[in-house]
Amino acid sequence: MSEPIPILQEFTLPCGAVLKNRICKAAMTERLADKNQHATSELIHLYDHWASNGTGLLISGNIHIDKRYKEASANVVVEDESGLSMLSKMTEAGTQQNTHFWAQISHGGRQSNIFSTFKPIAPSAVQLKRLMLFAKPKAMSIEQIKDVEDRFVNTAILCKKAGFTGVQVHSAHGYLLSQFLSPRTNLRQDEYGGSIENRSRLLTDIVIRLRKELGADYPISVKINSADFQRGGFNEEDSLIVIKKLEKLGIDLLEISGGTYENVTFLTERYKKESTRKREAYFLDFARKIRKRSTIPLMITGGFRSLVFCNEVLSNKELDIIGFARPYLNQMDFPKEFLSTSDNRVPDAKFNFKINALRDFAEAAYYDYQIHQIAKGKPFNFKYNPYLAVLRMTKNEMVKGWF
Ligand SMILES: Cc1cc2nc3c(=O)[nH]c(=O)nc-3n(C[C@H](O)[C@H](O)[C@H](O)COP(=O)(O)O)c2cc1C
Repeated sequence: MSEPIPILQEFTLPCGAVLKNRICKAAMTERLADKNQHATSELIHLYDHWASNGTGLLISGNIHIDKRYKEASANVVVEDESGLSMLSKMTEAGTQQNTHFWAQISHGGRQSNIFSTFKPIAPSAVQLKRLMLFAKPKAMSIEQIKDVEDRFVNTAILCKKAGFTGVQVHSAHGYLLSQFLSPRTNLRQDEYGGSIENRSRLLTDIVIRLRKELGADYPISVKINSADFQRGGFNEEDSLIVIKKLEKLGIDLLEISGGTYENVTFLTERYKKESTRKREAYFLDFARKIRKRSTIPLMITGGFRSLVFCNEVLSNKELDIIGFARPYLNQMDFPKEFLSTSDNRVPDAKFNFKINALRDFAEAAYYDYQIHQIAKGKPFNFKYNPYLAVLRMTKNEMVKGWF
């Protein structure tokens, strides 16, 4: 029998767990929790759908460790056992057909919006000034930092109990752990600030404890930025140092992304540089640098759209796993459809949105709508008006957050 094409080959993680292929649905915040921040039947339907189309690894959207500091009003929060029965049904749906389903665990920090809190906390009191959606954060005390560490561990243990087959610590995109990593948002002068050793302390302390609590055979992943793409922010040099540290701690999969809410590189990069458009995936140049220095299994998310290119980077051993997000919202049966159509290419949505400052917000809102269509068992509506999407998402955030 001939070998399957690279994207369909199995992959064994360092902990021993086996992914049935190299296709990962990267995290996409679902905004579908109920008013107690628990999983709902819509979430169960969504993951039932996504697990039935041939994906090897599903990663949930942001699951928060503390209901006070969410990135969106209807995020799932796991702080105790109260929502575990619905969460278990969601993991049962998401692990069908030998699919791995990992929980992405997260804390919003200063990126917790005003619908979630007017009193965010962060490494330092550096406010995120975007669309007046974020209040000025309070610098965290050492007790609050220790509390966050405990909460990451507690949430991960509960997620494992609920049936997730792995966990991903979200340390990218400007959320709390990424705020600690960045010298722009972390101005502390104690053991959590200053050198990259100190700025990465909270992340590495969490990973050490997760390995101890979750066991040697449980997949642990970290999502980290290659850079924040902000002057004076977390850069590639810092990132490589942190990656070396994570390698020593024995994580199973490193996911590379980039940007924060101030520069949403992870969403918008494909519209910018000609070279990245040609090479399809952004962050690949950085992946090459990591490969030279580290043996951690590697995944990149952002921009992959053609099967030929995915197979090329896998067979060149540039990457181990390919992360896709928006393709799942542009083809209903992705990746089944992607693998079977004649051109093996997934298109991006094309919509007209003239307000540049809001473009990324409109795009997130447009895709949020499509996620909800799947969750309700309805078809995509590619003609959905992005202006309407912005209004819809703002209204949902307000209603679910304040009322
Ligand atoms: C609607 C939407 C929600 C997202 N939510 C998350 C999230 O919860 N956590 C995360 O790490 N990334 C999130 N992302 C970023 C994606 O995981 C991914 O990095 C990005 O979309 C680039 O990949 P793509 O070009 O395949 O879409 C989100 C992206 C979209 C479009």
